[in-house]
Amino acid sequence: MRRLNNIAVTGGAGFIGSNFIHYIFESTNFKGNIINVDKLTYAGNPENLASIESAFGGTRYFFENSDIGNFNEMSALFKKYDIDTMVHFAAESHVDRSIHGPAEFITTNIVGTFNLLEVARNLWPGREDVLFHHVSTDEVYGSLAEGQYFFETSPYDPQSPYSASKAASDHLVKAYKNTYGIPFTLSNCSNNYGPYQFPEKLIPLMLLNLMNDKPLPVYGDGRNVRDWLYVLDHAEAIWFILNKGRTGESYNIGGENDEENLAIVNLLCQKMAEKTGQPVSHYTSLITFVKDRPGHDRRYAINCDKIKKELGWKQQVTLSRGLDLTIEWYSSNRDWVDHVTSGEYRHWMDRNYGNR
Ligand code: NAD
Ligand code: DAU
Repeated sequence: MRRLNNIAVTGGAGFIGSNFIHYIFESTNFKGNIINVDKLTYAGNPENLASIESAFGGTRYFFENSDIGNFNEMSALFKKYDIDTMVHFAAESHVDRSIHGPAEFITTNIVGTFNLLEVARNLWPGREDVLFHHVSTDEVYGSLAEGQYFFETSPYDPQSPYSASKAASDHLVKAYKNTYGIPFTLSNCSNNYGPYQFPEKLIPLMLLNLMNDKPLPVYGDGRNVRDWLYVLDHAEAIWFILNKGRTGESYNIGGENDEENLAIVNLLCQKMAEKTGQPVSHYTSLITFVKDRPGHDRRYAINCDKIKKELGWKQQVTLSRGLDLTIEWYSSNRDWVDHVTSGEYRHWMDRNYGNR
């Protein structure tokens, strides 16, 4: 029986991690403690959790500014909080950055995950009431031809430094159960969107450019396909896995909304036109085809029947509704946008967390 009482969330100040923490406190009956372990890279922002910090900080929510690659610090945190559950989000997450500079992806995604597994091996020997949940991506499966889908049984075929680093970490997690008995669950999810996403990813980048009448850079011919999932649906799927998922199993998670990038960008243009009253052509004229991403995977599409049938999870938010919520969030959180896109964000961290 899992204890599920003291949950360490690595990367909890990032996009999905912070939404997951909001979800736990705002939408579940969880009574235990959340320990957010985050190095606060450019992608980590404690501001995402300001309301959680003020409601639960120091009682049921604890923030630890730390690097998952530091064995001594991670061991000390495990002991200090008597961690029984690890939800491991922390990673370098942006494919384009992995192409420009892969080193950090190897260090955090592979060596960092290895380090956490070593801590678990040392501190959880023989335990069956603990769980290491590893948050991974559908990109580990590689690129699909038309009509094909990713299943949990699909062979791994990662194509970018990012997806290769995530594939390596998935394999390590599985090996640590097989070899040392560390109980794990693993999820491979498709593209998330929603509040608090750093505006380097397709949807928030396009939204901010639309709001500022700036060009909308579409890679290649814009016909690459991605599956889109509203981030709180992802958070709920992980919660279901922690509570009901079978140890040693992987679960695919997705929105079942596979769309060409150009279709997503056109939809955003249409929604912005409806919001502002400008003609849609005002926005579509901003679409600019730019040089393709090297090794750009052509198509992702996910089959998530397993989590639906076994755990009773299903998506709650349609693509149209999710995009409306996202547009609303970015329109009414201009301060957040300014902070993450300017030096002010760095100053904010220094003011609130010291000069790290
Ligand atoms: P993100 O880039 O928004 O956040 C990553 C977080 O990890 C940041 O808060 C950062 O400060 C932290 N971090 C980075 N290196 C660290 C280190 N060495 N030690 C401690 N903290 C560190 O990422 P995201 O989009 O929220 O993705 C979270 C996880 O979900 C990643 O593992 C990613 O591979 C996976 N994932 C993301 C998506 C997606 O669409 N964004 C889809 C499927 C899976
Ligand atoms: O599939 C899950 C993955 O989704 C996650 O594992 C990654 O962490 C996450 O970043 C995301 O990866 P993608 O590369 O699919 O996301 P991104 O938002 O960078 O790009 C989505 C698609 O849009 C992709 O085909 C590239 C294209 N694109 C992206 C940007 C940033 C553009 O055409 N123009 C752009 O400016």
